[in-house]
Amino acid sequence: MANFDVAVPKVAWSADPLDRSSVDALIVPVLEGEKLDRGPAFASLDRSLDGWLGELVQDQGFRAKPCCMLTVPAPGTSGPRRYVLVGLGPAGRLDMSLVRRVHAKAVRQLAPGAQRVAIPLPSDHGPAWLAAAIEGLALGSYAFTRYRAPSDDPPPSVSRIVVHTARRNEGLDRAAKEAVVLSAATAWARDMVNEPPGSMSPAHLADQARRLAKSPGCRVRVLGRRELERRGMGGILGVAAGSETEPKLIHVEYKPAGRSLGTVALVGKGITFDSGGLSLKPPASMVTMKCDMAGAAAVLAAVHAASQLKVPLRVHAIVPAAENLPGPRAIKPGDVLTIANGKTVEVLNTDAEGRLILADALSYADSLRVGEVIDLATLTGACVVALGNDVAAIYSREPELGRALRAAGDTEGEPLWEMPLVDAYKKEIKSDIADLKNVGGRFAGSITAALFLSEFVKAERWAHLDIAGPAFAESLPELGPKGATGFATRTLIRYLLDRSGTSAAG
Ligand code: BES
Ligand code: MN
Ligand code: ZN
Repeated sequence: MANFDVAVPKVAWSADPLDRSSVDALIVPVLEGEKLDRGPAFASLDRSLDGWLGELVQDQGFRAKPCCMLTVPAPGTSGPRRYVLVGLGPAGRLDMSLVRRVHAKAVRQLAPGAQRVAIPLPSDHGPAWLAAAIEGLALGSYAFTRYRAPSDDPPPSVSRIVVHTARRNEGLDRAAKEAVVLSAATAWARDMVNEPPGSMSPAHLADQARRLAKSPGCRVRVLGRRELERRGMGGILGVAAGSETEPKLIHVEYKPAGRSLGTVALVGKGITFDSGGLSLKPPASMVTMKCDMAGAAAVLAAVHAASQLKVPLRVHAIVPAAENLPGPRAIKPGDVLTIANGKTVEVLNTDAEGRLILADALSYADSLRVGEVIDLATLTGACVVALGNDVAAIYSREPELGRALRAAGDTEGEPLWEMPLVDAYKKEIKSDIADLKNVGGRFAGSITAALFLSEFVKAERWAHLDIAGPAFAESLPELGPKGATGFATRTLIRYLLDRSGTSAAG
């Protein structure tokens, strides 16, 4: 069974008292509040240490504000080497996103070389808490080390998480397993996006998809140039025309072994590098454009996770992959392309390439007669202007689908905000000489891009996520290092789990 093949911590269980845990660090969440009110984990540990911890917290003036940390060497010679106290703020405002964030931050406080970490799971903390804590530790441990010597600045590397609880049960086991798979999927997506664009070609992406899909119930199909031509996929071929590398359409299908409760198609933008084409980007806007296949990475990770977690749904991941470069054969502003469904598009800006390749991929999804399509794309700078780097836009004509995706995002600490598909703006993408043009006016660029995509969808349930802001972090994000975030990978998997009623942490 193929796996994500990324480094994520293993989970172990223990019913021993916390102060007996032989780990590099014990992470102790602490609530902000009066002395006796600092939360069950803190209280029980403090009791077994005869009040030593409580006094220390008092002495150090540790108030347990959200994300404040205090690391102390443990008193005994056996047991944890360090206690890492993490502030959770007041009990009333506690949510699982904060639990995830404080655990990710705690990883960065660990001594270099720390590998074994213990977390308490007192009886009033359920599967959702456990999942959030594991995800935080795993995501916080992520590092992209392929191209650097780890010696001078060793990345954090939690390899084992010991969960201390007296009441391990099936629900907790399932939640832990889910959290590990979701974290591994995110790490894999981050690796794909962080890979330099010189080695992340459409063919390489297809190879990675093939490798992953050696998983139960998965099947891969990769269309190359000849097949794209045969199917009239003028959008993908047009965008790829300026590049030497061959475009691909990658299709991974997962079929559950038992009965299936429905079918979902996930479509992810796979521009392996976006220079803008002949409508060349200025240098500063180009530096992060290896991230333009973040949607592709997320959907490929999600379909593999679905198979690993045996989600009882049929899931398609469809990735149009191409490189957007200027070159002697590049498409020119003014060119007209014909998409696989027969619609024609006047290309007025070659930098609005995402919607061109997605048009073909959405038409392909339609040909599979799937009732539900969710596409993910680093589609517009306008979306970053609207929602910033932390929040992705969601567009759907099905309010219930939008809500379900938002709920999954909330569970996973990935904020999504619903934006309107304003039909009146359709006139912005009307062309004088073709069915559509690929850019609208100066305003509402994220909305006109979404309206453009909607022209290629027949499925009853369709949602579009514009992840241009959160896909790639240039300043330190909360759940990992700078660079690729793997944004929406976990949201998609959680959505599939929720939709099939098999989520352990929802
Ligand atoms: N890949 C970019 C969008 C993007 C911007 C992703 C910032 C991540 C961060 C997309 O292909 C693009 O260039 N969009 C243009 C569209 C415009 C020409 C209508 C943009 O947003 O400027
Ligand atoms: Mn572009
Ligand atoms: Zn792009």
